[in-house]
This record gives sequence, structure tokens and C-alpha cells, in this order.
Amino acid sequence: MEAFTIKEKEIYIGDFRVQELAEKYGTPTYIYNEQRIRENFRRAFSAFSSHYPNFKFFYAVKACNNPAIVSILKQEGAGIDAASVNEILLAKSLGLDGENVMFSGNFLSSEDIQRGVESGVIFNLDDISLLPRVLKYCTPEILSFRVNPGHGKSNVGDFVTNAGPKAKFGLHPDQVTEAYRKAKAAGIKRFGVHMMTGSCVTEPEYFALVTKLLMEIIGKSARELNIEFDFIDIGGGLGIPYRENEAHLDIEKTAELVASTFKDAVERYGMTPPRLMMEPARYFVGDAGIVLGKVHAIKHSYSKIIGTDIGMNILVRPAFYGAYHNILFNGRIDDPVEVCGLCGQLCENTDFWIKERKFPKTVLEGDLLVATDAGAYGFGMSYQYNGRLRPAEVLVNGKESYLIRPRETFEDMVRNTSIPEHLLK
Ligand SMILES: Cc1ncc(COP(=O)(O)O)c(C=O)c1O
Repeated sequence: MEAFTIKEKEIYIGDFRVQELAEKYGTPTYIYNEQRIRENFRRAFSAFSSHYPNFKFFYAVKACNNPAIVSILKQEGAGIDAASVNEILLAKSLGLDGENVMFSGNFLSSEDIQRGVESGVIFNLDDISLLPRVLKYCTPEILSFRVNPGHGKSNVGDFVTNAGPKAKFGLHPDQVTEAYRKAKAAGIKRFGVHMMTGSCVTEPEYFALVTKLLMEIIGKSARELNIEFDFIDIGGGLGIPYRENEAHLDIEKTAELVASTFKDAVERYGMTPPRLMMEPARYFVGDAGIVLGKVHAIKHSYSKIIGTDIGMNILVRPAFYGAYHNILFNGRIDDPVEVCGLCGQLCENTDFWIKERKFPKTVLEGDLLVATDAGAYGFGMSYQYNGRLRPAEVLVNGKESYLIRPRETFEDMVRNTSIPEHLLK
């Protein structure tokens, strides 16, 4: 089951026509298909756990942090990868705690460190300099370091490359043994290791390559320091196709290659087999969400521009880093096309986020449109610029639909602001 289906030119999500959803919830609205999220998770989990049973996924909540979405992944058996103290609090509010939560922040403040330590989740340190700052509060039972194995890849664009010499993340391979030596000397008993190198990668061989790089680095450290690793977390980055002609990631082959590379290295370095972990997000929720919007005006000036309520405030990825999202116009599927542009309603020209693409000639004011594959890094990156407020979020499960976050109102825009007395005169 795909996130959406098309019948006689009409777009459906679950059993709902988007027309019906637009009438009930308005636009712009993020709509997620629960069944698709579950299907994505199960496909990936079954691939990895069949090749390496001691396997666990941690969902990186940054991609879509709506508690309803996180609850689906929790029900499926995922832990949480948290990037901030508030994401830890979100996990805890949903009953995920302790070693079911991994805190992978970077350039943390002292307050982040203190609250991270107090939260009792697994701390994953992005730099060796953080170790004494953590030890000031306590000696954690288990500790992990984020390693930058020197190689990264992104199918989204250079800005999203999470590892390699130009990335801000992780320890240099030369620092790894020293980091664990210091941790061991401080009395820490159990160790993990983490990397996050790829973003939206659809080549299975890539995941095996970075797993090998990481295993070479930490295999040597484990041997030299005589330590065991409880877990090895090889990050997220499992890709999805955004363009119609792109291939899906072969998840079965990815799992097979990663597991065999992993088992080889474990054997070569004589390690007690650790738990293998991954923390994807896009793969679970990316293609399970869409943004439903409306055409509000069509302008013919220097070129033809279709004006919609899906601006860069609602879906920033294209304006932010040149990401691609497919656009479908409800009722106009397969109509004759012409080249024109598409924009949102902000007073910024970057909001003119599609300058030229083939769209149906028949599009009219009032038509509904769908930006596909918007479930990851969509709502979470939306903002309130120009007083255009954050959209609603809706979850569809077959014949049921649920409002899981209402559209913001003017009261939300001014909430918690205050005007000093002298400005009220
Ligand atoms: C530390 C960490 N883990 C996991 C992820 C999830 O990545 P993806 O959605 O590409 O699987 C991210 C995304 O940026 C991340 O920063």
C-alpha cells in the first residue's frame, strides 16, 4: 500500500478522497498514512533482523515529532533517537526511557549535558571534550561516542552530508581509542559506538562500506583497550525515491550486506557479538506523508506561476537545500501539460520554489494539490514567517482520520510574547 492512490484522476489517502480531507481539515495540511508507516518499518525490520537477530531500530524523531507518529513507531518496537533534551522529554512522555532512548546532540550546552545525564538515557557524545563535562555530574553506566569515519554521502545535496572531513559531526578516527581509554579510566563499564554518515542513500553497498570503515576503527580500539561493545549504531540515512524515475532502496540487499560486513568484522576482531542498531527516520515516515494544499491564484506575468498555500514556510526542503518533491493536482492527473512555475504566499522570492516544471494546463484556482513524500523533515521544519502559521497534521488509518495537531491560530503566533510597559503608552 502506497501513502496515496489515484482513482479516476482523484487522489485518495487511505479510504479518503483528498477533496473530503480538505473540506474537513482545510489546507495546507500534512496528512500521514499510518498503514504505510507500519509497512515501511516492518519491511526494514524484517530485513535486518532476519540477517542479524540482535537488531534494534531507534526512530530519529527530528524527522516528524508528532506524538501520534512517534507512538506508531513505538508500537512497532522502535526506540528513540533524540537530538535535544526536549526530544528526550517527548520520548519519556510516551513511555520510552533508559536504554530505549539515545541522546545524540551536538555542541551541547552545560544545561543540555546536565539534563541529558539526569534523564538516564544513553548519552552519545559527539566530541571527546564532552566526556569530562558529563563526568562532572555522574559516571554513566553506559556511554557511546559518535565517530566520523571520514566518509559521507547524501542524495539530497552537499548540505546534508553528515560525515567526512567537511561535516561538523563526530570524532576523528584518530581520537577514538583515546576517547574510550578515558571513558574506561573514568570507570565506565559498558560501551556503544555510533555514526551517522548518509542521508537519503539508495545504494545498498554504501551502508556496507561505512559499516566496514566503522568496524575497522573500533575493532582496533576494542582490541587495544580490551573492551567490549554493547552496541554498534550505524545511523540512519536509508533513502527513498523522491522523483518518479528513481529506484527504491533494496532493503533486503542492504541488510544482507551490512550484516555480513558486520559479522565478519566482529569475528576478525574477536568481539563478543554486539547489538546492531540503526536510527533511520525518512525510510519510515518520508513517503507516508503528503502536504495537501490549494491553488489560490494563477498569474501570467514574465511567466505563468501557480500560487498555492504550500510555501517554503510549510515545506522548506526545496528552498532550503534544493530538495525535490513531486506535485500532483487533484482531478488533473494525466491532463496535457505546459511548463510553468509554482510558489507559496511568502514575501520572499525563494518561496517561488519551482521555477519551471511541467504542470497540467488545466489547473484552475481552487484546485487541490499534493506535495508527495513530505512525511520526513516536513512539518518539523515549518515556521511562522509572514504570519503564515503552521499547518494542521492529520493521521489517516484506512476508514478513519484523526486531527493530530490543529492548524495554528493568531493566538499561537503571539503566545508567550510580552510588551514592556513603556511601549504600551
Ligand atoms: C543523528 C541522526 N540520526 C538519524 C537521523 C535520521 O536520518 P534519516 O532520516 O536520513 O534516516 C539523523 C538525521 O539527520 C541524524 O542526525
